[in-house]
Amino acid sequence: MKTNGNAAALHGPARIEINEVAPRDGLQIEPVVVPTDAKVALLDALSACGFARIEATSFTSARAIPALADAEAVMHRIARANGVRYTVLVPNLRGLERALSCAPDEVNLVMSASETHNRANLRMTREQSRAQLLSMIDAARTAGVAVNVSLSTVFGCPFEGDVDPDSVFALAGEFAAAGAQGVTLCDTTGMAFPTQVAQMCERFQSLLPGVDLTIHLHNTRGMGLANALAAWQAGVTRFDAAAGGLGGCPYAPGASGNVATEELVHMFASMDVDTGVDLPRLLQVVGGLGEVVGRDVCSQLLRAGPRLATHRPPAWMAEHFAAATGG
Ligand code: COA
Ligand code: ZN
Repeated sequence: MKTNGNAAALHGPARIEINEVAPRDGLQIEPVVVPTDAKVALLDALSACGFARIEATSFTSARAIPALADAEAVMHRIARANGVRYTVLVPNLRGLERALSCAPDEVNLVMSASETHNRANLRMTREQSRAQLLSMIDAARTAGVAVNVSLSTVFGCPFEGDVDPDSVFALAGEFAAAGAQGVTLCDTTGMAFPTQVAQMCERFQSLLPGVDLTIHLHNTRGMGLANALAAWQAGVTRFDAAAGGLGGCPYAPGASGNVATEELVHMFASMDVDTGVDLPRLLQVVGGLGEVVGRDVCSQLLRAGPRLATHRPPAWMAEHFAAATGG
């Protein structure tokens, strides 16, 4: 029985879209502040890889996220590629004003599904964030900019544990009704597991069929790709991922990297699912990430190579077997 390639036992969409978030989720947690020039070069290189969306930066307070204090400069200097939508993370009205001055294709508003993480990360109650996000949706729509809302800690909160799914769907529904085109369910610290992801995605799609669902996974506990597979089987077509597996929220204890884009692309390409991403080109970018962030970036796929990047047998074998078989 054939057990790999086009596996008949697994079903999901033939085509998915990837939102590359390393420039935002990745760089926000790095201990070094990457110079603007290097960020622009990274974004320009990623722009040539075939992503549907790229999250370029965030318009947060420089005290909260010093690494991304140059958001305006980055947005003004990148070369925007045709076919790529450039999105930016925005936590409050002040951030929205800044973001709109840079003409992003989309603003990605953010709040947490859990109270404690919302307070730790955004220094607001959920109610304050919710109210602010509703007026931000209004303002962004008036400005003619598309809105996505990212809900953090949906699959578990590092302070509170399990999060009530009904509260997640209530928030998502309210933001969608206010005019957000998309909602991202975020697994901020890798607490999600595959059956939970499948259930959440299925319920989301049946409750909010007109809303673009994106799934944002961290590989903190090694379940990133398994969760992505579960989401795909549930019909999800939009995935966030970070090149090199960079990423993490500085205000979530124990946070670590996003699911690595190259591994996500490689997995889906192996299954003949079209991601639109040029894997060799992406691997070149991943190979340069260590220099960008000033540390080793351990990309398993970069080290191993794609699954059919086979190796020459050891040199001694030819002679040994020629002698042994007398040929
Ligand atoms: N961009 C730039 N500066 C901002 C800002 C923004 N979006 N929002 C607030 N500020 C400035 C204010 O102008 C003020 O400056 P001042 O001290 O010079 O007067 C200062 O920051 C404090 O403003 P305040 O409204 O009290 O904000 P805060 O300190 O309570 O922080 C957030 C609130 C939301 C801005 C901050 O917590 C934040 O940026 N969090 C983002 C965290 C994040 O990105 N996490 C990872 C992604 S999930
Ligand atoms: Zn994240």
